[in-house]
Amino acid sequence: MKATVFLSLSLIVLSAKAWPMVKKSFDLYANDPFTNIHVISDCMHVASEPGEYVFKKVPHLLANTKETTLVEAAVEETTSEVCGLYIIGEPDTIVEITMKHYDVNCATGGLMAFVDGWELNGEYFPGIKDHHRQLDERVIEFCNSYKQWPRVANKKFFRSSQNAALLQYRIPFRGSFIAHVRFHKITQPCNVLAQDTAAIFNMANFGNQRNCTLSALFPAAVSVASLKIGGKNMRGEKVNYDCGMYEDRLEIGGSSGLDAYAMEKASDVCGYSDQQGPEQAIFCGVTTVRLISTGRYQNHAAVMLRKADETDLDIATLVCAL
Ligand SMILES: *[C@@H]1O[C@H](CO)[C@@H](O)[C@H](O)[C@H]1NC(C)=O
Repeated sequence: MKATVFLSLSLIVLSAKAWPMVKKSFDLYANDPFTNIHVISDCMHVASEPGEYVFKKVPHLLANTKETTLVEAAVEETTSEVCGLYIIGEPDTIVEITMKHYDVNCATGGLMAFVDGWELNGEYFPGIKDHHRQLDERVIEFCNSYKQWPRVANKKFFRSSQNAALLQYRIPFRGSFIAHVRFHKITQPCNVLAQDTAAIFNMANFGNQRNCTLSALFPAAVSVASLKIGGKNMRGEKVNYDCGMYEDRLEIGGSSGLDAYAMEKASDVCGYSDQQGPEQAIFCGVTTVRLISTGRYQNHAAVMLRKADETDLDIATLVCAL
């Protein structure tokens, strides 16, 4: 209870300090009744709600006793750990981040980055080869250069291409930021990071030449609830689970890392079906379903996905190396 009070108190102090700088942008949201304030506490903080995300790091020297020397405090506090606010929305949304305030000093090794997607252990979702943007356009780094004069407006605005985005930060000594997160609906989602542990996902190419990836960060039982992929000649009006030789197909498989491009495949599905197909379990850190489309057909698949457990071992079609 005490901790909560202290936390909200320091939050108010922080917002008060940041106020003059961000007042203008704040006014934009002043009539938004859904503005929630979240304090970032974990190095890997997963967020699925809109609102304000606040981070603040102060050296112990200020927070604790005056006996600690500055050098000691600096040694204690200096870590070059990279942390992240991992944002995930509903499948048919994109993420918008407005940096309402940031105080991350470049000169002391501070750095922030917006990532169009998620990054874990050097691998990206959507995979580097699966995204229409080059990686250097997907990762935008920024920090405050206090040598610069006059100081430019301290505001930044980003939008992701899919329902997943990441705000990375490395703050070795001290710093703070306030990020405002919003979600926008889109009509033709392609790459989707699964948030729920049981759901049906609709995948479609809308007649385009494009590859769309649905990934879940857990082992999952996958089934195809309805399907229409490829032309009539290859479909024969029934479902086919061995479509590796066709260009238009639905790949089901998994990988140990985030990048689905090098995933191991369990099956290639194409054809036509309006009935629920059999379940197969993918025992990998990341379960992935990819819809590959040449643009010659209107492809659509409804994919059912649920978290797999040991009782699903008898329907396993793929077990990844650990
Ligand atoms: C889609 O994936 C296939 C197979 O992985 C690849 O050959 C093709 O170039 C990809 N198409 C696009 C538009 O990225």
